[in-house]
Amino acid sequence: MTYTTLLTEEQGAVGLIRLNRPAVLNALNDTLMDELGHALTAFEQQAEIRVIVLTGSDKAFAAGADIAAMRDLSFMQAYQTDFITRNWETLKRIRKPVLAAVAGFALGGGCELAMMCDVIYAADNAKFGQPEVKLGVLPGAGGTQRLPRAVGKAKAMDLCFTGRMLTAQEAEQAGLVARLFPAAELLPETLKIAQQMAAYPLQTLMMIKESIQRAYELPLQEGLLYERRLFQACFATHDQKEGMSAFLEKRPAQFKHE
Ligand code: HXC
Repeated sequence: MTYTTLLTEEQGAVGLIRLNRPAVLNALNDTLMDELGHALTAFEQQAEIRVIVLTGSDKAFAAGADIAAMRDLSFMQAYQTDFITRNWETLKRIRKPVLAAVAGFALGGGCELAMMCDVIYAADNAKFGQPEVKLGVLPGAGGTQRLPRAVGKAKAMDLCFTGRMLTAQEAEQAGLVARLFPAAELLPETLKIAQQMAAYPLQTLMMIKESIQRAYELPLQEGLLYERRLFQACFATHDQKEGMSAFLEKRPAQFKHE
């Protein structure tokens, strides 16, 4: 499939998606979000792909929703069409790990898109922010909900009230970013991590994702029970027997993803 706002590529078991609207720093519009939903779903359905990496350019992951496409919307148009967020539920339904590799600006909807991913790896030039207040709106795709869960209430309020940008170093210290890399190494390092993950059993990666996601949705006792039942279910898989046998026999495991 050829996209107008994305580039996709397969590298072994890793599916790579690059946002590609360079003239507007990868600003998000409905076409891009529709194509992103399509590309993610295609990798989700492709059996050989086990991990997905989402990235932008060296200058911008995404500088937010497309302000030119948004400015003249009426309330009813925004409300009825769910501008750029109508596909947010598609992103949420992806069950394979999705890693964000963020260089440059991740602002507004761009920061919110990065937060939809399971892990954020960032370049040392990355800048995160929710500058919507400067445009007379508030974040509309999770900034007031996911950001406080990621960095705590104080920093989330500070960022949303002032619209200031968080440096890559601050974002890592605050827990928004998992690891930082020099800009030139961001994508190769993220792809290396993705390949390492993709060698592990797919069903285990999916269970980890489901279980950690529930840490934000369920009361602790219910989350712990969910985790324990998934742990027990692993004993029905080939890969659990193989992983534990390989350890005891001091040899590399040969996982079959089943
Ligand atoms: C449309 C954008 C854009 C955006 C940049 N551009 N961001 N176009 N929507 N969000 C365009 C610029 O107009 C410009 O086009 C070109 O990209 C390069 O940007 P510059 O501003 O010239 O680059 P620079 O000086 O390096 O500044 C980079 C920047 C700045 C700091 C990222 O572009 C900026 O502040 N952008 C807006 C960030 C923002 O407010 N994001 C939140 C949007 S609201 P020309 O034609 O002049 O070359 C949002 C709500 C989501 O995201 C809610 C979801 C429901």
